Amino acid sequence: MGKLTAPAIAAKKARNGNDPLVMVTAYDAPGARIASEAGADLILVGDSLAMVVLGYDDTLQVTIDDMCHHTAAVARAKPDCHIVGDMPWMAYHVSPEETVANAAKLMRSGAHSVKLEGGRKRLPMIEKIIDAEIPVMGHIGLTPQSIHAMGGFKVQGKQAEHARKLVQAAKSLAHAGCFAVVLEGVPVRVAEMVTEAIDIPTIGIGAGSHCDGQVLVYHDLLGIEDRFVPKFVRRYADIKGASVEAMKAYAADVRSGAFPNHDESYHMADEEAEELHLYGAG
Ligand code: KIV
Repeated sequence: MGKLTAPAIAAKKARNGNDPLVMVTAYDAPGARIASEAGADLILVGDSLAMVVLGYDDTLQVTIDDMCHHTAAVARAKPDCHIVGDMPWMAYHVSPEETVANAAKLMRSGAHSVKLEGGRKRLPMIEKIIDAEIPVMGHIGLTPQSIHAMGGFKVQGKQAEHARKLVQAAKSLAHAGCFAVVLEGVPVRVAEMVTEAIDIPTIGIGAGSHCDGQVLVYHDLLGIEDRFVPKFVRRYADIKGASVEAMKAYAADVRSGAFPNHDESYHMADEEAEELHLYGAG
């Protein structure tokens, strides 16, 4: 199908007869190759990296350098997907200069665009990044970098007034020039209203089926992360379970001496072995 550019993604509104966009997170080269071979349209090198790969309890712990390190690993796999680099907390909060420099770091690591969380409050920074010719994906609703301000990972927009603000925020992001918007953790009706209200695609996670695309976290959809499965996740495999079983079989074979066998070992020619024997070990 070929790699989608940001303008091509912007034109992929479902109401214009386009298939829903498929986005998945990935954080390394093997993950990128799997997403690419599976035909994903976009790979998001998400700051969920913090939780699903690096073992932190929230996304606030990753830095722009962590994000660049993993974006570069994804890019080196040359996936046939648009790569979105996620701007981590504090990478776009301090000054326009720092914000643009951090977005540029992600692009130089191999991203084709960047994503950042927040609505109208973030517009000045978004405009600066877009001014620097870097495509921006918005992200509103449940924004995990605001976990402390929101009081936890809570569905957003359940009250009509808050829902109305989310629609306004999405309109502002579209007006500022974002090429797509992630809608996370919002009621189906709110996602539907936002999707109707803007001309750029919405990509949902925990936002129901009316979005122009969907995104899931790699470790959730493949069943690598099994400690907590949010309601909106559909697990398409049990890679954690299969991996534990495979490791148990390996451990049992090592302990019983069944691994490695003759074919899994290197051998000398018989005459060399004979000569070695004649000389003795010393
Ligand atoms: O970091 C991430 O994985 C994300 C998705 C949940 C949209 O931002």
